[in-house]
Amino acid sequence: MKEYIVVIAGGGSTFTPGVVKALLTKKNEFKLKELRVYDNDAERQRKVSIITKSVVDEMDSGLKFSQHTEPKEAFENADFVFAQIRVGKYPMRELDEKIPLSLNTIGQETCGPGGMAYALRTIEPMIEIVDYMEKYSNSNCWMINYSNPASIVAEAMRRIRPNSKVLNICDMPVGMMQKMTDVFKCEYEDIEPEYFGLNHFGWFTSLKVKGIDRTQEMKDFIKENGLFPKNNYDLQHKDASWQKTYKNMKYMMNLFEEYIPNTYMQYYLLGDLILQQLNKEYTRANEVMDGREATLFKVIDEYEKTGKYDKEAFHVGAHGLFIVDVANSLANDMKKKYLVIVENKGAIKNLPDDAMVEIPCYITKDGPVATYHGLEIPTFYKGMIEQQLASEKCLVDAYMENSYVKALMAFTLNKTVSSSQKAKEILDRLIEANKGYWPELK
Ligand code: NAD
Ligand code: G6P
Ligand code: MN
Repeated sequence: MKEYIVVIAGGGSTFTPGVVKALLTKKNEFKLKELRVYDNDAERQRKVSIITKSVVDEMDSGLKFSQHTEPKEAFENADFVFAQIRVGKYPMRELDEKIPLSLNTIGQETCGPGGMAYALRTIEPMIEIVDYMEKYSNSNCWMINYSNPASIVAEAMRRIRPNSKVLNICDMPVGMMQKMTDVFKCEYEDIEPEYFGLNHFGWFTSLKVKGIDRTQEMKDFIKENGLFPKNNYDLQHKDASWQKTYKNMKYMMNLFEEYIPNTYMQYYLLGDLILQQLNKEYTRANEVMDGREATLFKVIDEYEKTGKYDKEAFHVGAHGLFIVDVANSLANDMKKKYLVIVENKGAIKNLPDDAMVEIPCYITKDGPVATYHGLEIPTFYKGMIEQQLASEKCLVDAYMENSYVKALMAFTLNKTVSSSQKAKEILDRLIEANKGYWPELK
């Protein structure tokens, strides 16, 4: 059995110990030769690696594990790069969320102006990491990217590094499917979804469980309850704001019964309600800093002091398992069907060929192959997607052309922004806040 060198870029991420736990849970199917972490914040990575290393020691004690801040050492001869960087870390996320919100506009780290601000910080560093991979890693090394905003990152990579082996993924559909298992009383692998959209902007059109269509049953459940099964134990989405999000599914499902929306559609379809629900002083960034991040660093301190920590702090959820499953299917040409983000190229007939769409694909050794050929989507969804797509494309134009007006167009086109005046106000504030991170916009 072949063994792989995997590099996690964003080694200091709050998700790293969980991803490593998932990798080692699957070590008999996807065998590691070496595990490396890479980050540009050595101290954060050192701390998180205390726990990552303990996961390695416990689950595969012979495995070579190393930490890096030097790209050559990190990427040399690698077979896979798992990317999960957060440029500007949580303090910048807080501004992405709070600046628009102070102007009564949804600030979210992937949707709306918050996501666009995050994108303008992230494109350049992502290109840098792709270039390190191409310079130092194996020629058939794949990057599997989780770094958000995945939709805009994907569009930027398509245009700026068109020949690079980068596969962008998102764990939201699998996270939703994991919740659905409680309703269907099945395993997550038993659900076969049909789905279309952009990242964080899509719909499930059908759900088959062991070959039987059970879409209507799920729609009926969501209309009554939201996507909120009582027994589900999902650490990743346990916080109060995520609970609200899963409850909000109910309102969307009752408005439009045709397809099951991604949770993130709440920001585009339920804007007024979301603005009422959000707290201008305490956003998701605060909740994560006080929750996921604080818990991780508390566990690290505890482990440094006592040599012990609560093992339940990092359970293997859909997030970790999904990236490993995708890597495994790429490595072993398994042609498994997963929802990933790919260039449309006619898969959805009535969307542009060059849209980066999230659809079911077979994951082969040569990359993803779309399962749709000429799918036609109804006007409502097409209209919504085209507006969002135009916004995201204008934003990548703004990055590539250093263009203020393209950025203003991107912000104006976004459905979360009420007018071009509002777009300008928010954009100008974000330019100030992102000095040193954004390209200069002229
Ligand atoms: P985090 O801040 O805990 O970790 C991010 C790490 O990236 C930090 O250690 C930081 O120092 C590092 N970093 C920043 N810029 C870097 C660079 N240029 N080179 C190397 N390292 C760099 O963040 P987190 O909450 O754990 O999330 C990590 C990323 O994963 C985010 O982008 C998040 O949105 C994304 N994510 C995506 C999905 C998805 O569905 N696509 C799911 C979960 C998380
Ligand atoms: C979902 C999304 C991701 C997002 C993650 C964590 O799973 O698909 O894109 O990064 O949630 O969000 P959080 O707000 O918990 O950092
Ligand atoms: Mn996502």
